[in-house]
Amino acid sequence: MPDPLDDHDQLAEALNFAAGAAQHYLGDIDQARILCPGFEKTIDGWSDAMPETGDGTLAALRELATRGASAATRSSGPRFFHFVMGGGTPAALGADWLTSTYDQVAFAWASSPLAARLEQVALDWLRQLFELPREFGGVFTSGATMANFVALAAARNWWAERCGVDVEERGLRELPEPLIVSSGYLHPSAVQAIGMLGFGRGSIRRLTNDPVGRIDLGAVERALDLAAPARSIVIANAGEVNAGDFDPIAELADLAERYDAWLHVDGAFGLFARLVPEARELAEGVERAHSVIADAHKWLNVPYDCGFAFVREVERLPRALNVGAPYLPSAVDPHPSFGFIAPESSRRARAFSVWATLRAYGRDGHRAMVRRHLALAQHLARRIDATPELERLAEVRLNIVCFRVHPEGWPDEQLDALNREVGEALLADGRVFVGTTTYAGKVALRPAIVNWRTREEDVDLLVDVLRELVAARVG
Ligand SMILES: Cc1ncc(COP(=O)(O)O)c(C=O)c1O
Repeated sequence: MPDPLDDHDQLAEALNFAAGAAQHYLGDIDQARILCPGFEKTIDGWSDAMPETGDGTLAALRELATRGASAATRSSGPRFFHFVMGGGTPAALGADWLTSTYDQVAFAWASSPLAARLEQVALDWLRQLFELPREFGGVFTSGATMANFVALAAARNWWAERCGVDVEERGLRELPEPLIVSSGYLHPSAVQAIGMLGFGRGSIRRLTNDPVGRIDLGAVERALDLAAPARSIVIANAGEVNAGDFDPIAELADLAERYDAWLHVDGAFGLFARLVPEARELAEGVERAHSVIADAHKWLNVPYDCGFAFVREVERLPRALNVGAPYLPSAVDPHPSFGFIAPESSRRARAFSVWATLRAYGRDGHRAMVRRHLALAQHLARRIDATPELERLAEVRLNIVCFRVHPEGWPDEQLDALNREVGEALLADGRVFVGTTTYAGKVALRPAIVNWRTREEDVDLLVDVLRELVAARVG
């Protein structure tokens, strides 16, 4: 098959084939093992030489649909509790297919008015969903890591401007060291963003005096008091990954106001607490931040990849990120042109899936999903509490349940090894997927419930499989 043009008329067949393969894959995802037995063999065997002459469209798709599907991680299924990963709602997945089909470049109005307009609409809907003030301007990114980068680039612009330096032109060399404070809950992606912005990862001060990482507000206040005004960035964490806990955002907002600091909130999944009245209090104060970010590919359940950043002084973003060229549209274009305030130029039209899932299910549907997940997390906590060989390690404030295996009489010094072993056995078994972490010095399991498909029976299966695996080791 020498040339794609020769396959021009195969397009309809290719798309029909892909639709059938997708339905087949998703048809049993509610029950399928996360990784099919033998997946390593498939992956190791995938070492064909670069073809000089191709096999044609359908042959390529067939191979992906058979070999690929047999080795794919069913992370979009209901029993994947590892990391914090959502799935794709039917509306979001359908829209994602159309995103590839329309193949809009969401750089600027000039490249796609449709993508530009839907990004504007979808971001405004998200702003309303989270009840953020009107003055917040947003942009889609590849995920929370890049959203943290965008928001903190705006913070850097603010800090440098207040120091009288054009940081985008001059770099950091004429600037004093900033004060960057957070709690022990700080996610590595924020550290990564601080590093990429040239501040130096080592310049972050995690002010905590407890083994879990909770913030030491007194220490934050003392540090801010010692720093000159407009020299500090405070990063608050709405939802940390081990137990789903929150920093006290409203109190950090008070301190940021009192000491003229930039308050940034990483709410990659925790921002969704604002959807449900019973959890909203956890994320109270976010509306007072200078910037806030979240992921859509987590709790909004749109396919990868999609995150977003909201910045109050959104006019800082083109200054922080845009570099023009004569062949590109002007940054003062009156139309929305999100490529000027994003770290990428050519961009996927991520707005389509976000728009579609909000159009399809609305605030009520997404609220119902978050509420169901919170109830499932409480259900799991109760099941753990009722299981003698399991020990819960933290209060369940949101959607993550942190616990460990702790059989009666098992020596304390061997508990970490046992939990690591059970964690590995759980992944090898594949009926449910849960990762391990270290919480207050203890190796622990930390299932996160964020997938739209997850039901009570999936959560129950986690406890049943664990009991089986523990019984095989402990007797
Ligand atoms: C609190 C928090 N921030 C940032 C991230 C990074 O998100 P992403 O992988 O979408 O870049 C995560 C991912 O789990 C997270 O939980």
